[in-house]
Amino acid sequence: MGIVIKGTGMYVPERVLTNADLEKMVETSDEWITTRTGIKERHIADEATSTSMLACNAARKALEMAGVSPDELDLITVATVTPDKLFPNTAALVQRALGARACPCFDLEAACSGLLYSLEVVHSILKANKNYRKALVIGAEKLSSIVDWTDRTTCVLFGDGAAALVLERDDSAEHDFYVAGKLAADGNYGDILHLPAGGSAMPASHESVDGRLHFIKMGGQETFKLAVTGMTNASKEVLADAGVAPDQIAWVIPHQANRRIISAVAQRLDVPEERVYVNIFRYGNTSSASIGICLDELNRAGKLKRGDYVLLTAFGGGLTWGAQLIRW
Ligand code: ACO
Repeated sequence: MGIVIKGTGMYVPERVLTNADLEKMVETSDEWITTRTGIKERHIADEATSTSMLACNAARKALEMAGVSPDELDLITVATVTPDKLFPNTAALVQRALGARACPCFDLEAACSGLLYSLEVVHSILKANKNYRKALVIGAEKLSSIVDWTDRTTCVLFGDGAAALVLERDDSAEHDFYVAGKLAADGNYGDILHLPAGGSAMPASHESVDGRLHFIKMGGQETFKLAVTGMTNASKEVLADAGVAPDQIAWVIPHQANRRIISAVAQRLDVPEERVYVNIFRYGNTSSASIGICLDELNRAGKLKRGDYVLLTAFGGGLTWGAQLIRW
């Protein structure tokens, strides 16, 4: 018996915001954004589109690939920092929109590490309880709704998008997709990457709106350093735990936050760049969607072979971070 990834899907909104477009909005340049981050463009949803809608579009593709109908699902979860509303949870909104039957639905918030956290949690549930056979795991974000479009230090970094995976308990599977994992968080660094207002600590008020406190605040350089250390150490621990050497890995999929962070991690792991998947130049940082988008692109391009080891690694607000070794 094993848990398998039966389907993957992704969705990004049509509208593309290029670095040239950003040059007209804030004091920045294509040259600065490209050299510091690797990002050339990102997709931005229109006002009428919410995170759950992005999530549903990705989910439909994953379900179609898996050959699973929404009414067969036993569990739906959405990792997000941009839920449609504080409640009901986004997964329940996805359930309704897909026409899925009554099943447990919950959101998971671990910022950009959200999809890794979800895979760990959902894998454990499927493994532990035979009443759960088919689960929909989504990472979806409308980050444009929490980006301060007047702040050049953050607005150039983020994009909107969603990714979905269908996990299934398969009694005849040759192997489980999950090989080893390491998740971590350190709340002491909570203030270097956060959204100050809108929760119970600072409900919306005239002051919070005037102070632009409903937008992402980030200490870029500190985040950068902690991201490199966190992803590298977690990845090394996972590989050691699994007894898998870096040269046995077919692909490393790092969270797509900054091209330079990705290169620094790859170098420290001693994995050649051609086995490190990068698509940040097209999407920017899509937070909990980013790793799933990469996985779906690789999958649909036929670049994942049965038995391949794929190392996923992420970090995000919290701070949270982690790594997971999966086997295709
Ligand atoms: N265009 C032009 N100049 C800029 C821009 C911009 N968009 N943004 C900042 N600058 C300027 C700064 O004002 C500064 O100018 P100064 O030297 O005159 O003060 C200069 O560029 C250098 O700024 P730094 O912040 O030192 O630039 P750095 O090389 O650190 O790059 C960056 C900034 C890209 C944000 C980098 O620190 C980074 O990627 N950090 C990690 C970010 C990240 O991964 N966040 C994860 C968020 S995920 C989540 O959980 C939501």
